[in-house]
Amino acid sequence: MSTNTNLVAALPGDGIGPEVIASAVQVCERAAERFEIDLQFETAPVGGAAIDETGSPLPDETRALCQRSRAVLLGAIGGPKWDDPNAEVRPEEALLELRGSFGLFANLRPIRPVGRSAANSPIRGELLENVDILFVRELTGGIYFGAKHRTEREASDLMVYTVEEIERIVRRACRLAASRSGRLTSVDKANILESSRLWRETTTRIVWDEFPTLELEHLLVDAMAMHLLRRPSDFDVVVTENMFGDILTDEASMLSGSLGMLPSASLGEGVFGLYEPVHGSAPDIAGRGIANPFGAILSSAMMLRESFDRPDAAAAIEHAVELVIERGLLPRDLGPESASTDRITSAVVDALQ
Ligand code: NAD
Ligand code: IPM
Ligand code: MN
Repeated sequence: MSTNTNLVAALPGDGIGPEVIASAVQVCERAAERFEIDLQFETAPVGGAAIDETGSPLPDETRALCQRSRAVLLGAIGGPKWDDPNAEVRPEEALLELRGSFGLFANLRPIRPVGRSAANSPIRGELLENVDILFVRELTGGIYFGAKHRTEREASDLMVYTVEEIERIVRRACRLAASRSGRLTSVDKANILESSRLWRETTTRIVWDEFPTLELEHLLVDAMAMHLLRRPSDFDVVVTENMFGDILTDEASMLSGSLGMLPSASLGEGVFGLYEPVHGSAPDIAGRGIANPFGAILSSAMMLRESFDRPDAAAAIEHAVELVIERGLLPRDLGPESASTDRITSAVVDALQ
């Protein structure tokens, strides 16, 4: 699938998507210039914007662009305009199709609160010291991809996992944990769900057989939702299934002060990856130039690290973001004296000099 080109498919999408992608592309291009990385961005429609233009949330041209690219940088998709429950197509389908068809089963969502941003967290400051969590969310299985069924008076969504699907995501999480503090937390609902009992059994076996030096903790998802706020600094790598990971990471974003702060990388077996902020299209603030661009900017840093093998440029972007935050230049979701998306972007670009 993946190619040797230096092409990046920029898919802005809907709502604040275009605002944060413009920002991330600007920062990434500056970093590429400084670190002499040959990067080339090409833009294409996705989601609601693509439905309006072509009738499809993932037009053939967009899919083809992704196929010849090394990475995809995506903003956000969806919004009230396309929310009709009886609509033929939904914007979100594009995202599921990209994740599924490119085999991007591993979704990495790091949470590393930065001082002045975390000051906006509703969680007490002393609990946030040393928080550095890496969520590894399974992304191409579970209830998102199981069979759907609907009649007038009944509906169901099937949650299915195979042993192979669990093994590959757990192995990925184990390798990441081994390269960090050696602690792995696996989150499931094994007291109720059969799929979770298979998840727990498989996780235990993989750790015992292949990563015996790791420290493994199993937690039930409801308890995890509480532990995350009570003792966030105890967690290192957290592996979980698709929907639990979706919900827990929005919750965990508040440790860093705002949902707008979180980046993500969606990876398969090769270097190809899809990079997007964890947040959605934020229709309530779209078009006003006040969106927090840090999640998207940090996603572009993850792209340089994972798909372009340039940890130097990635770290420079991350450092520039920290500098700007510590200087107190914050978007509106992080404080009352706020700066615009553009102003923050320029500051990050300047900090990259
Ligand atoms: P959301 O993440 O868009 O917004 C939740 C809240 O967080 C809103 O108050 C919003 O203003 C705020 N917020 C989010 N990102 C922000 C940012 N960068 N800067 C400042 N504030 C920010 O979630 P939602 O409102 O539940 O969903 C809106 C739409 O987005 C839905 O159609 C949903 O399906 C879609 N969605 C898409 C993605 C994606 O593209 N990956 C992710 C989540 C939701
Ligand atoms: C996310 C989003 C998506 C998900 C939606 C838009 C399909 O919430 O990326 O976290 O649930 O995976
Ligand atoms: Mn989500």
